[in-house]
Amino acid sequence: MKISNNKISNFSNLIWNKVEKKPRPQFMNSLKILNYKDFQNIIFDKKKLGVMIQDLYKGNIFIIKKAFSKKFISKLKKDFLHFTKNNKSQFFKMKENCPDFHRIIDKEVSKLYSIKAIKHSAYFFHWNGDPYKIFNKINSRWRYLKVLGGRKYNEFEKNTPKDGIVDRIQILKYPKGGSLELHSDPYHNQRMFISIYMSKKGDDFESGGFFALNKKRQEIDLENEIDVGDIGIGYATVKHGVKKIDKNNLKENTSNCRWFMGLYSNDSDEKKNRITARPIKKN
Ligand SMILES: [Fe+2]
Repeated sequence: MKISNNKISNFSNLIWNKVEKKPRPQFMNSLKILNYKDFQNIIFDKKKLGVMIQDLYKGNIFIIKKAFSKKFISKLKKDFLHFTKNNKSQFFKMKENCPDFHRIIDKEVSKLYSIKAIKHSAYFFHWNGDPYKIFNKINSRWRYLKVLGGRKYNEFEKNTPKDGIVDRIQILKYPKGGSLELHSDPYHNQRMFISIYMSKKGDDFESGGFFALNKKRQEIDLENEIDVGDIGIGYATVKHGVKKIDKNNLKENTSNCRWFMGLYSNDSDEKKNRITARPIKKN
């Protein structure tokens, strides 16, 4: 069977609609780790797929190992550096013909967003000609995640802002001191948050990084389980964030940073009453 078979997407969506009759999960339950190959096989096995969906809805977070090669992740970093060096930091709404752009989001700029973050983000959209030729490889993985999320394998791929929902690839660097406050993500277009990990704790930075909140309101640090090229997924409403990178690192002027890539099917700015992520209290 192929990933393009709509029967799998329909089955997946059916299971989601059943489990979503219960309240949405707010807290992380447990962490599950599996290989990318095993993940691919789950998609073609109805029983296992059903279990994975139920697991996600219980608040389990999955780390899918070795989904991207280290070589590809290095290329993405070079692409980011090339793009940010050759274009100025700026912002565009996701309106029709919105260009690829990057923005340095510091404390001041962060006030313009619904969620506080200190980061340097670059945003790529398919309609700009894919100058770094990254979409094919990323979409080949994203398609499996779309099917897992109850969507058609290529849903939104060809959309532009006037269609209301668009795929966006965000590549970013959290500098030393960078962070992302506790939040939950919208689930209406994409049921799971999708994180592509591009940094390894201990190599690129020493402390901080991805965490999720458990039922006891404890911030569970998941960075030790993460390697370059892994994918992390969880149900969008499970509260999560990024702890300050290397806040206790006293070495000044180091190049410490945490690289990251996020895949998201966003409401575009052509959509009225668009829904975006929201900050959230611990309780
Ligand atoms: Fe998120």
